[in-house]
Amino acid sequence: MNSPVKVAVTGAAGQIGYSLLFRIASGALLGPDTPVELRLLEITPALKALEGVVMELDDCAFPTLAKVEIGDDATKVFDGVNHALLVGARPRGPGMERGDLLEANGGIFAPQGKALNDVAADDIRVTVTGNPANTNALIAMSNAPDIPTERFSALTRLDHNRAISQLAAKLGVPVTEIRRMTIWGNHSATQYPDLFHAEVSGQNAAEAVGDQEWLANTFIPTVAKRGAAIIEARGASSAASAASATIDHARTWVEGTAEGDWVSMAVRSDGSYGVPEGLVSSFPVTVKDGRWEIVQGLEIDEFSRGKIDASVAELDEERKAVTELGLLG
Ligand code: NAD
Ligand code: LMR
Repeated sequence: MNSPVKVAVTGAAGQIGYSLLFRIASGALLGPDTPVELRLLEITPALKALEGVVMELDDCAFPTLAKVEIGDDATKVFDGVNHALLVGARPRGPGMERGDLLEANGGIFAPQGKALNDVAADDIRVTVTGNPANTNALIAMSNAPDIPTERFSALTRLDHNRAISQLAAKLGVPVTEIRRMTIWGNHSATQYPDLFHAEVSGQNAAEAVGDQEWLANTFIPTVAKRGAAIIEARGASSAASAASATIDHARTWVEGTAEGDWVSMAVRSDGSYGVPEGLVSSFPVTVKDGRWEIVQGLEIDEFSRGKIDASVAELDEERKAVTELGLLG
């Protein structure tokens, strides 16, 4: 057995937490040979509920769960952590857009960024799931000047997985036949799931679909508005699928991408594909040895350009809004 890896989860008593913790503890993130020490952060009123979740974790007797610590003080909980999964934030309700959460949730991520900056391990990797995820990651990053910016990311893997699943269903193929899916931009209704660079059994996905009408008017809105459809159906936002995607994202960051494939991650733009530098925007990325790189050289046609620009414009607006709220460090 290796020595324990410290994984922080915020919002640990929430819906996503209830799926996520058991998967991490059972080895789904770091594998069967790496013990995990869970560091769980909650707000004070939720600590009692969290104690109940910890009892359940104990009762699973997971061989890979070395230790669990809980608390409401980010500086203590984040001490020495190697991974931080920042989930804790309010979810939207019916009729809201994720951007409506900016003011309520943005304030959570500045102090958490500062606490990570002060006490996290040198190899810290931060994944933001709490919405609006891209801009919350920007807030955390800008409040953590000593942590390299490439260690911050936001979750668009759920959108990526949704896009794979919709495409596989349309073409009647297993999801394993699909590679090189890309979500561009914001984790919001403006996101752009791109079939022009995806592949199905080695064939270009847009060509395999052969139906621009479906691509533009069914596929893209179905993926982009899936979160709202789930809220409408369940009366609560996606939780198990969000937890699963959070694991996929963080595990890929550790293990790397498969040869010839890539994944979608929202990361700090270096100006690639005309996305203004500094915005946390979703890109196709490859990961090797724990480091991600934006896939370069993809041709972007006029249709894709318009979609990427619209989502990036929204991210720019969000950045302006949080700047005005004084949330950027
Ligand atoms: P939830 O309300 O069930 O749980 C959120 C938890 O966060 C609560 O237990 C709350 O007490 C806690 N919390 C609030 N402020 C906190 C703080 N400052 N520090 C630590 N914990 C805090 O919500 P949920 O369904 O688990 O969703 C959590 C977030 O994830 C929401 O913002 C939701 O919109 C978002 N989400 C994102 C994706 C994605 O793909 N990026 C997918 C699904 C949900
Ligand atoms: C999702 O995509 O399911 C989450 O971001 C929750 C939401 O508000 O849509």
